[in-house]
Amino acid sequence: MAKIYCNDDVDMNVLKGRKIGIVGYGNQGRAQTLNIRDSGFEPMVANRDDDYKHKAIEDGFEVHPIDHVAKEADVLLLLIPDEVQPQVYHDQISPHLKAHDVLCFASGYNVYYNTIERPQDVGVIMVAPRMIGKAVRNLYENGLGFPCLVAWEQNGHNPSIAIALALAKAIGATRLGAFESSFKEEVLIDLFAEQILWPGIIKLCLLYFEKLIKSGCDPEVVTTELHLSGEFVEIAKAMITHGFFGQLKLHSQTSQYGQLSRMDRMAPPELLANIDRAMEEISSGQFHAEWSKEQKDGKPNMRRLWQQAIDHPLVQSEAKLETLRKIVADPYDSRC
Ligand code: NAI
Repeated sequence: MAKIYCNDDVDMNVLKGRKIGIVGYGNQGRAQTLNIRDSGFEPMVANRDDDYKHKAIEDGFEVHPIDHVAKEADVLLLLIPDEVQPQVYHDQISPHLKAHDVLCFASGYNVYYNTIERPQDVGVIMVAPRMIGKAVRNLYENGLGFPCLVAWEQNGHNPSIAIALALAKAIGATRLGAFESSFKEEVLIDLFAEQILWPGIIKLCLLYFEKLIKSGCDPEVVTTELHLSGEFVEIAKAMITHGFFGQLKLHSQTSQYGQLSRMDRMAPPELLANIDRAMEEISSGQFHAEWSKEQKDGKPNMRRLWQQAIDHPLVQSEAKLETLRKIVADPYDSRC
């Protein structure tokens, strides 16, 4: 079992006297910067000139150019999108790194795919929250935590381990638990969910919708059943409260039998082959190469795929149910 670190296992003093720099003030950047400040540190914020910079100023930070913070900081958190990190790192960060600096990533992507050349005497760590930025902040403000994965490169720069854990504590993660992991493991669990789990669920939802419409059902009734009622979310919450299978007891006996007896049918050999293929594409770097090329080409496939998605009749049906959607999304603020 992975080693799990909680608040009492971690000493934040290792960060005292080290200048913490944060590059990026977006989803994770804003949340982590505010949490680190509320944990008693004075992070320096770096951002290019855009709306995020103005948000940081509104929150009371002085915002600096990225190369300035790269020069000043001893511990530098890279909280900009993974796909822009290699260029920003190459142009504005790497020329300013000094021996014993520590670079902290919030995902394993660029370390695992080796897109960033790291000097031997710079520590490389990962503190990857398993939580969206907004909730990283909300939970912290309410005295709660969230899980995160931590990792460090084995380059003999030992303080990196203590710094990774101290940062995990400063952002509030060790209130729940920081799991010792690796850059590779973070990439595998993240991309595999993105390429198998979520698209599998989305595709099944679309097939469910299409078949029921063909069978004469009303699109708006089906859309409500599918996700707009909020039952989907309640089932996911019940999985946490009662267990992955334990929540089945909240459904009728007919439902329980239907689900358990038909579950294995949903995994024919073709699906199992696709699961293997996705894992191979992710771990070999084939997907990374495809995605890098797509970005270099100006994302033509991404645009086509988006268009195809939003042209689906489910989206039209959803639009007709806008009032219902707003009420379910925010029951206390909306009225029918
Ligand atoms: P984001 O999309 O919110 O990033 C926006 C920030 O990046 C802004 O500060 C913007 O000024 C800056 N930025 C964008 N393009 C730039 C460029 N070309 N040059 C300089 N700055 C640029 O990023 P997000 O989602 O917070 O992701 C940051 C890191 O956190 C990534 O490594 C991601 O994998 C990781 N992560 C994200 C999670 C999430 O909830 N979004 C969850 C866990 C990890």
